[in-house]
Amino acid sequence: MKKIILFTLALTIAISGVQAQKQNNRKHTVTNRVSSSVDGTIDLGTESLQALDIIQLPASYDGLHTPLAEVLKERCTTRNLLEEELPLELISSLLWSTYGFNRPDEHKRVAPSAVNVQEYDIYLFTHEGVYLYNAEKNALLLVVKGDHRGELSQQKHFAAAPISIVLVANYDRMEVFKNLDDRDFYAAVDAGYISQNIYLFCASAHLGTVACGAIDRDTIHKLLNIKNGRAMLAHPVGRK
Ligand SMILES: Cc1cc2nc3c(=O)[nH]c(=O)nc-3n(C[C@H](O)[C@H](O)[C@H](O)COP(=O)(O)O)c2cc1C
Repeated sequence: MKKIILFTLALTIAISGVQAQKQNNRKHTVTNRVSSSVDGTIDLGTESLQALDIIQLPASYDGLHTPLAEVLKERCTTRNLLEEELPLELISSLLWSTYGFNRPDEHKRVAPSAVNVQEYDIYLFTHEGVYLYNAEKNALLLVVKGDHRGELSQQKHFAAAPISIVLVANYDRMEVFKNLDDRDFYAAVDAGYISQNIYLFCASAHLGTVACGAIDRDTIHKLLNIKNGRAMLAHPVGRK
């Protein structure tokens, strides 16, 4: 009798282990991307997959009409953010200001990039899921379903903000830099420009934001299956 109980217990543990591994694999398969094409195909290097869903963003320059001097005067960190949802037009302008193409013919962006490697992937965390920003198509590609905003950090502004932008440096695109120290250095510097773009847009659109370096990188890397790169900064954004 004792042997049967032990055998059943071992079998149950083995089956649940295999199921957990399968779920993990599925999530990793979907999120293991290198880049995304304009039609929502996520190019994994060795295989491609469709995004779980695609949101076409409206072409919009909402919130970008304030003179630069005023924007610079208003630029600040805001930690008390309201939960109120933001309209898609505003999110579209925010993402374009973050890392959109301002010279599409030359494939160049609003933020400078060391050796023009453009290593950043920009993720948008909402209550519905995690989206990868496709600047070329001006679209959001759903890569992980569900509300993961609260997992970004222990800091309370993350759970309250309607959205968070997460800047992930993809080191596969940084092979021109021969050692990890150089990749870390240039990725950190490039993140500063992108982060300042977010701050300036928010100042212009009367939104609040905070650059956060104290984020849970292990959790983010697991969730997005980042193997060769670094989640550098996160920016909760909301009305104040
Ligand atoms: C690289 C970097 C990382 C930061 N990390 C955090 C953070 O994890 N949490 C936070 O509340 N503020 C963070 N901040 C915001 C700073 O605390 C803030 O910029 C500073 O207090 C100056 O305030 P100001 O932005 O209003 O000028 C960070 C700022 C930078 C530039």
